[in-house]
Amino acid sequence: MRVLASAPAKVILFGEHSVVYGKPAIAAAIDLRTYVRAGFNENGAIKIEARDIKVPGLTVSFSENEIYFESDYGKAAEVLSYVRQAIELVREEADKRKGVTVSITSQIPVGAGLGSSAAVAIATIGAVSRLFGLELTREEIGKLGHKVELLVQGASSGIDPTVSALGGFIHYENRKFERLPFMELPIVVGYTGSSGSTKELVAMVRRTYEEMPEVVEPLLVAMGRIVEKARGLLLSEVEERARFEELGRLMNINHGLLDALGVSTKKLSELVYAARTAGAVGAKITGAGGGGCMYALAPENQSEVATAIKIAGGVPMITKISREGLRIEEVKP
Ligand code: MEV
Repeated sequence: MRVLASAPAKVILFGEHSVVYGKPAIAAAIDLRTYVRAGFNENGAIKIEARDIKVPGLTVSFSENEIYFESDYGKAAEVLSYVRQAIELVREEADKRKGVTVSITSQIPVGAGLGSSAAVAIATIGAVSRLFGLELTREEIGKLGHKVELLVQGASSGIDPTVSALGGFIHYENRKFERLPFMELPIVVGYTGSSGSTKELVAMVRRTYEEMPEVVEPLLVAMGRIVEKARGLLLSEVEERARFEELGRLMNINHGLLDALGVSTKKLSELVYAARTAGAVGAKITGAGGGGCMYALAPENQSEVATAIKIAGGVPMITKISREGLRIEEVKP
């Protein structure tokens, strides 16, 4: 039997960094996907083939705790530890002795802040659990994905695997998730081509916060209020154009506050301003900053905004919100 599953990338729409201080955040799944094909193998090992994960192709295989072959590519190796952990968690629930081969292809750039690790973990859990005949809900798969993140990276809010498993819009506050109603949001993601270290950026904001809490606290409070206003807009019946305009204004304010915290870069701000100049109603960093991605809300002119991002030196991705999270694409006997 072979199972093919896919899971989407995500963008944090509002609330990165302030979420670390107990404020809310809103994230959404986008229609860039990671595909994982899973089947049993004869030799009892975990075998991972990563043919196209936006780093040169490689094959790695593990048996017990031995690694047969490992790649030099740091980023790819990091992705593979999520895959391996995901397979092991499912095997523990089902049958630890059975060998599993998974093969991965992905449209999501690794290390860009678009949740590539969570997507690969969720698609792997989805494919492998189905292979073993386990009946898991998307919520349960999201929770297992969070467990994988905790095991691999030590700390995680769980927002990425939850969004990737469930799809659509998720409001997150203090470990509680709320699904917001689905709507089309015409966005363009702009990748700077480099990645910042989330760990270092979070630590840098923490230092500034500790050194001058009376200055930083009001910024974080404002970011929390932006999220609540955005949630209200996503829940309201307001006319579409007015909703986009209002969300765009909130994005611009949120970007300014993130810049004030020191997590923007020259390149990120260039992409943000290029998008706004080309007619986006709003543009901001998405994720930890220091490189990675920005996104723009462009209801009428996605392709002009994408061109502006390209001219400013970024990699544009015209994308849509993905209503669907984890998807079982194909089951072959
Ligand atoms: C990174 O995608 C988002 C941050 O808020 C960190 C976190 O929530 O753990 C910067």
